[in-house]
Amino acid sequence: MDNFTFYTPTRYTFGRGAEEKVGEEAQRIGMKRVMVVYGGGSAVRSGLLGRVEKRLEEAGISYVELGGIEPNPTDPKVYEGIDLGRREGIDGLIAVGGGSVIDTAKAIALGIPYDGDFWDFYAGRLVATTALPVGVVLTIPAAGSEGSGNSVITKLDGLHKISLRTESALRPKWALLNPELTFTLPPYQTASGIADMMAHIFERYFSTTPDVEITDRVAEGVLLAIIEEAPKVMAHPDDYQARANIMWSGTLAHNGICGTGRREDWVSHFMEHEISAVYGVTHGAGLAVIIPAWMTFMADHRPEKIAQFGRRVFGVTSHDDRTAAFEGIEALTAFFRSLGLPVSFAELGIKSPDIPLLVKKLHENKGATIGGYYPLTATETMEIYKLAVR
Ligand code: NZQ
Ligand code: ZN
Repeated sequence: MDNFTFYTPTRYTFGRGAEEKVGEEAQRIGMKRVMVVYGGGSAVRSGLLGRVEKRLEEAGISYVELGGIEPNPTDPKVYEGIDLGRREGIDGLIAVGGGSVIDTAKAIALGIPYDGDFWDFYAGRLVATTALPVGVVLTIPAAGSEGSGNSVITKLDGLHKISLRTESALRPKWALLNPELTFTLPPYQTASGIADMMAHIFERYFSTTPDVEITDRVAEGVLLAIIEEAPKVMAHPDDYQARANIMWSGTLAHNGICGTGRREDWVSHFMEHEISAVYGVTHGAGLAVIIPAWMTFMADHRPEKIAQFGRRVFGVTSHDDRTAAFEGIEALTAFFRSLGLPVSFAELGIKSPDIPLLVKKLHENKGATIGGYYPLTATETMEIYKLAVR
């Protein structure tokens, strides 16, 4: 096990009615005038936005709104939010939504106190250390941004989708998680969220660092819970207990607990980010396509941990690592299919993907060699994208 620092300062309030605490939570950290950020309309239609704003008013906190954040959020909304926030003199942001809304709020929180272009942080020219505080009312368990220090924004000019990672600057100060708010999710979004949270565990689990049995077992435990609960939420979208288990899994998958003490990988995410940047697909659905392809490549090049996953999570019994790895991949693919997820480019709706373009952008954005489990060059990532065509 490697040395590590584990710091997750987000305060979580979980359960029915959690969103009612928004005024209290905002007050507790001294917010007085906030920006309420939301998406394309689900929070308005469900009445959630109105409830949140009422609670803020009752707590004596004034607000301005920034709505219309789209999935795979882009930089123009961030610039708009920075201008609005400065004009209105806000001292914090409240994201009501999923990863796209939260990540936009985080980018604005970073941009307001900074004199230059917020993209400097995403481009790696500066390290992010200061931001306005962000609170979250989560409506979709998926990206895990409610507990992560990351923000993923696409720069429209060149379609660069970049994940900015910070240790603590961008971790929300608090997050309110009410599983009931997820009852209205379309099945495809529920399923894509499940693939995304599983991917967040895989990126940490597929590691060459030895002797991390505790972290392996935590990761396997969360994966097993997701696999057990996922069919229930698909069959009964208003099953509170199943939704609750899935919602908390989404947070645990990405708050860092599944990665402690080891080197992580993240290639599947890097490869998927290029797909959702260019083709605008749902991030988790893109992962359901890339992950089996990445694992298939690894079964031939570094099968040990893929085999362990197959044995411990899907109960495959082959002794030979390569065979067990392939059996595990088959079981995972069948699981994704059972949720109605695509597992190939064609099923994702991309008939002839521009693979050379994806590979070029991938290595421009991430470097010549990428990944911690089995470092990959452009020739190899090209091979993996091709495996995803099927
Ligand atoms: O915009 P509205 O109308 O709210 O609809 C949204 C959107 O269409 C809908 N939705 C959300 N909650 C709902 C609901 N519909 C009905 N009922 C509800 N309760 O779901 C759609 C997807 O929303 P989005 O916020 O895009 O989903 P998600 O949480 O999957 O976020 C995806 C974004 O997060 C990034 C992804 O790349 C992508 O841009 N990621 C962020 C990470 C992070 N910050 O740590 C890590 C992840 O790996 C990921 O890359
Ligand atoms: Zn993800």
